Amino acid sequence: MNAPVTTATISPVPTGYFRWEPEEDEFLICRAVRDETHDVKTFVMAPRHARQFEFVSGQFMTFEFEIDGETIQRCYTISSPPSRRDTVSITVKRVPGGPVSNWLHDEFKPGMMLKATVPMGEFTWSGMQDTKYLFLSGGSGITPMMAMTRAAYDLALISDIEFVHCARSPDDIIFRDELNFMGRRNHWIKPTFICEKDSPFERWSGIRGRLDRAKLEVICPDYLERLVFVCGPAPFMKAAKDLFRDAGYDMSRYHQESFNFDSFTEEAQEQIAEATEAITTDVKVFQLEFTKTGRTVECPEGITVMEAARRAGIRVPSSCSKGLCGTCKSKVTSGKVDMKHGGGIRQREVDNGMALLCCSKPLTDLVIDR
Ligand SMILES: Cc1cc2nc3c(=O)[nH]c(=O)nc-3n(C[C@H](O)[C@H](O)[C@H](O)COP(=O)(O)OP(=O)(O)OC[C@H]3O[C@@H](n4cnc5c(N)ncnc54)[C@H](O)[C@@H]3O)c2cc1C
Ligand code: FES
Repeated sequence: MNAPVTTATISPVPTGYFRWEPEEDEFLICRAVRDETHDVKTFVMAPRHARQFEFVSGQFMTFEFEIDGETIQRCYTISSPPSRRDTVSITVKRVPGGPVSNWLHDEFKPGMMLKATVPMGEFTWSGMQDTKYLFLSGGSGITPMMAMTRAAYDLALISDIEFVHCARSPDDIIFRDELNFMGRRNHWIKPTFICEKDSPFERWSGIRGRLDRAKLEVICPDYLERLVFVCGPAPFMKAAKDLFRDAGYDMSRYHQESFNFDSFTEEAQEQIAEATEAITTDVKVFQLEFTKTGRTVECPEGITVMEAARRAGIRVPSSCSKGLCGTCKSKVTSGKVDMKHGGGIRQREVDNGMALLCCSKPLTDLVIDR
């Protein structure tokens, strides 16, 4: 048996342990808050009772926040590995003006609790049989790949990981010490940092500028042979995708996740374009009344409530646009929708009139509590 051990071999929760089930108790207690950089903190959370988490590295959880009398949902990738099952960590960048990231940074302290849903998401390396990976991250997009790398380190997997992280300055490199430490102790893990500029107290002597093909060829000459995972801000993701497409990379081996929420995913845009094309002059048009904004907008049959709202300039919070994360969950106080979700809502919430607006198409006129 000389075959290399791959990431696919991460074992399930050992018997004798109880799995954390949000249906049983959805609250998690904050155990610790750790500073990572000047604007990034890690929050370590545990279940209230002796339970263990079951997830795959790269997955995220949706958390519920009560801020200024409003209930808000946001997704955060689990930055800790599934090999440390007693807690989950999330690593959050402070976004100027953002309600949740600022609340977490300023208010969320050890002993406080948050509601959470089960880990989900498909941006994982579970089941991948490859042994050669290239992780490309920008800013807070480092978190899923950090969970994967921590798992590879904890389990001493023979996974050859080129980890390229792009940051504005040396002060902005998240997990710099830990990645370097893992790289020193396990030669399969090879971190490289690229910075755009110096910090006030550190002149950057490493690779400088933005990620491009020339830099990637120097850092990782065999990049076309590796399974690629990319996460970061929208311009970073676009540049990375263009780079790989232009280089003739087999894009079926290219995996990406976006934390960019204002823009719709490419897939969602395509669906909207298809639905719009299918609209004929005799298509039904429904009236959608948004009670909080006091607006009523038209929604042609086949278009999601989210898209109709967006076209009319009404901002509905959204993240995944795929019915996964729960960020767009809203109460529909009157009317019926056809909702095809991906697990971002529970049956009891549906029974209470809640719907995910990103994946709900109206079947009648609607009144929505937004
Ligand atoms: C699957 C998934 C996983 C995520 N994982 C993480 C994570 O591990 N760490 C993390 O910090 N965030 C993560 N996010 C983003 C997170 O859900 C929040 O959107 C973010 O914390 C901002 O929330 P907010 O309420 O403060 O601001 P919002 O009102 O949501 O956002 C304000 C503005 O900032 C932009 N923005 C949001 N997040 C970022 C960011 N991280 N960097 C730069 N600009 C941003 C938004 O596009 C918007 O224009 C994830 C999002 C998704 C969909
Ligand atoms: S935006 Fe994620 S479920 Fe709607």
